[in-house]
Amino acid sequence: MTRNESIAQRAQQVLTPNYRQQPVAIARGEGVRVWDADGNEYLDFLGGVAVDALGHCHPALVKALEEQARTVWHVSNHYYIPRQVELAEALLAVTPWASRAFFCNSGGEANEAVLKLARKFHHDRGHPERNVIVSCHDSFHGRSLFTVTVGGQPKYQAGFAPLVPGVRHVKYGDLAALEAALDDTVAAFMVEPIMGESGVVPPPEGYLRAVRELTRKKGVLLCLDEVQTGMGRTGKFWAHEWEGITPDLMSSAKALGGGFPIGAMLATEEVGQHLTPGSHGTTYGGNPLACAVALAVLAELRGGVLERSREVAARLRAGLEALASGGRVARVRGRGMLLGVIVQGVAAAEVMKAARAQGLLVNAIGDDVLRLAPPLTLTAAEADLAVERLGAALAAAPAKP
Ligand SMILES: Cc1ncc(COP(=O)(O)O)c(C=O)c1O
Repeated sequence: MTRNESIAQRAQQVLTPNYRQQPVAIARGEGVRVWDADGNEYLDFLGGVAVDALGHCHPALVKALEEQARTVWHVSNHYYIPRQVELAEALLAVTPWASRAFFCNSGGEANEAVLKLARKFHHDRGHPERNVIVSCHDSFHGRSLFTVTVGGQPKYQAGFAPLVPGVRHVKYGDLAALEAALDDTVAAFMVEPIMGESGVVPPPEGYLRAVRELTRKKGVLLCLDEVQTGMGRTGKFWAHEWEGITPDLMSSAKALGGGFPIGAMLATEEVGQHLTPGSHGTTYGGNPLACAVALAVLAELRGGVLERSREVAARLRAGLEALASGGRVARVRGRGMLLGVIVQGVAAAEVMKAARAQGLLVNAIGDDVLRLAPPLTLTAAEADLAVERLGAALAAAPAKP
């Protein structure tokens, strides 16, 4: 039995069976590369699901974590935390519309805070009837009961009824449906700038701008879920910058900590002040270790990583689009380093498996999408190598019956 097989077998005996792991155990990482327990090397183009924005074990992050680990680990929010204040200042500096930050530990928690605050905002202003959350079918906002309800995906809700009341869904990209849904019982519209988990689905051109106008007109808070698209993933700090819009509330997580768990909610002054003392919180939120690492991530992104990532992402996309000549890639969608390769004549899961055999980790979503979320530090040579490996995988995967 190989080491990978042995770890998989032990995992199957002791872990709850809620994940569908690939049959490899990742033991080590450096940059875009990871090695499994048997020593096989891969280019990691899933990046911990769009988390490892600076690759694995980036020296600046290792240094920040080590230094903070020798200083203080955890004190709780019963006290001011210098690193937390620094991180809030740094995040708000790159997010000019926001003036308040709340820290937590994951994307789901950040969205939970957004949703609760959206209701409380209207409640505090004398409109408790404005409590409905509108979101999109097939979106993904987390796994807590509130966020899984808002996510609008029956497969993630099955068995967990009763769900949270006061949640309504509309079709992503459908402005008329949204307009019809936004009556005066609606507190907020929560939306992803690009739907990540359901297959890297961008909205139609101009959708988010029209959504911003509509929500403002109707007195509804616009809550952007930038958990997957934020922190430079699409080539700008936040994906909504491409549209020239600003939300009222926003969530971030994943790449914010570059692999160390942290989430954040950013809010305008008007909305953020309603998260009053005692109304919300979490023991670990804004923990010194997490904040020290996130500060290092931000410093790297601001230090040129973002600009360079745009160039390499364009090269990667061009390489992927050129694979279409092989007949098995229909098109490539997404933005920056968040790309969906749409395959045809072959199952995405088969291509994922073949890619793994070629030394490339990608993620199959549904029947025909491969999601790629490599580090923003990817080099041109690494992008070319990944395209070559994916090309070989596409050719090797068995045709659909
Ligand atoms: C857009 C979006 N929101 C929220 C989440 C949930 O984040 P977490 O798994 O950190 O709770 C995810 C995770 O994939 C996501 O992609």
